[in-house]
Parts: sequence; structure tokens; C-alpha cells
Amino acid sequence: MRITVTVDGTSYTDDVEPRTLLVHHLREKLGKTGTVVGCDTSNCGACTVHLNGQSVKSCSVLAVQADGGEVTTVEGLARDGQLHPVQQAFRDNHALQCGFCTPGMIMQSIDLLADNPNPDEEAVREGLEGNLCRCTGYQNIVRAVRDAAGHMRPGAGPEAEQVAGGERTTTGVGGDS
Ligand code: FES
Ligand code: FES
Repeated sequence: MRITVTVDGTSYTDDVEPRTLLVHHLREKLGKTGTVVGCDTSNCGACTVHLNGQSVKSCSVLAVQADGGEVTTVEGLARDGQLHPVQQAFRDNHALQCGFCTPGMIMQSIDLLADNPNPDEEAVREGLEGNLCRCTGYQNIVRAVRDAAGHMRPGAGPEAEQVAGGERTTTGVGGDS
């Protein structure tokens, strides 16, 4: 089947098999390897991207379901050489160890902040409960999301606007570590 998907602002038209998963289309056909596969069974959230403004686990979506749609990956977040505020907050708060979960964590965090611009710790953990960190670095991830929230609220600075148009996601950090 021929599909056209806009990914990180660029339109791509490709022939795909009906069974091709969106994550495989992104990685193998479009070279968007910033989106990773951690489980392939919809459990880990490492493959989270935004599809038409909603966060989705791209291993649970067929590429054909994205036809005509817009996908944002972690590779499409930076603007004019500036990291997205959530990316910057993850960096500032050492919210990654091996970094494998980080793309999905960041995409999900942006989504949860679009829904709740001022989440408390519990809300962050709940919002990220579908994203797993095998390094168990949850404490700093939660700290980073709350830090990002402070930078993204209206009046917080130019980066606030970058997020305002933001998208949304689906899951969260339920761990305790
Ligand atoms: S690779 Fe998609 S949820 Fe784990
Ligand atoms: S930083 Fe290693 S899986 Fe999260």
C-alpha cells in the first residue's frame, strides 16, 4: 500500500506492507532511529511518538494507520539548534543512564505536560506509568518533568511557546526508584 506520512515536518510517500508497524517504518524506511524498540509488545514505551498530536506506542500502530497523518519523533523536537525544554530538563537533571528509554520518556512527558502543565510527583508517575526504565532512573525522570513544567508554563520564557503547540501521549513511570 502507498502511504504518505509527514514525519518531523517532512512528507514521505512510500510503499509499505499492510502488516508493517509504524515503528519499523520510521526506523527502517525513514531512518528515524531515534525512536527505538524495547519490547515490540506494547509494554515498555520506548517507541512512543506523537501521531496527530497524541502520544502512541508506535509498535502498536500500523504504518498504514498513519497514512495522511503527522508524526513527531524525538528527532523533531529541537528548534533552531535549541533542545525542547523537556529534552533540556532531562539533560539538566541527569534523567538518563543508558538512555534507551529516553526518547519514549520524553515524548510521553511532553504529552502529559500538554494535559497537565503543573503535575505533582504523583501525576508525573501516573502519566509515565506505561514507560519503563530498565536502569530504574525514575527519580530523576520525575524531577526532570517537573523542572520542564516550570520552564514551559506561560510567561516562563520563549521555550514555553515551543511547548504550547505541543502534543500529547499515553503512559508513565510507576516505579519508585
Ligand atoms: S517497543 Fe513499543 S512499547 Fe516497547
Ligand atoms: S536510562 Fe536506561 S532504560 Fe532508562
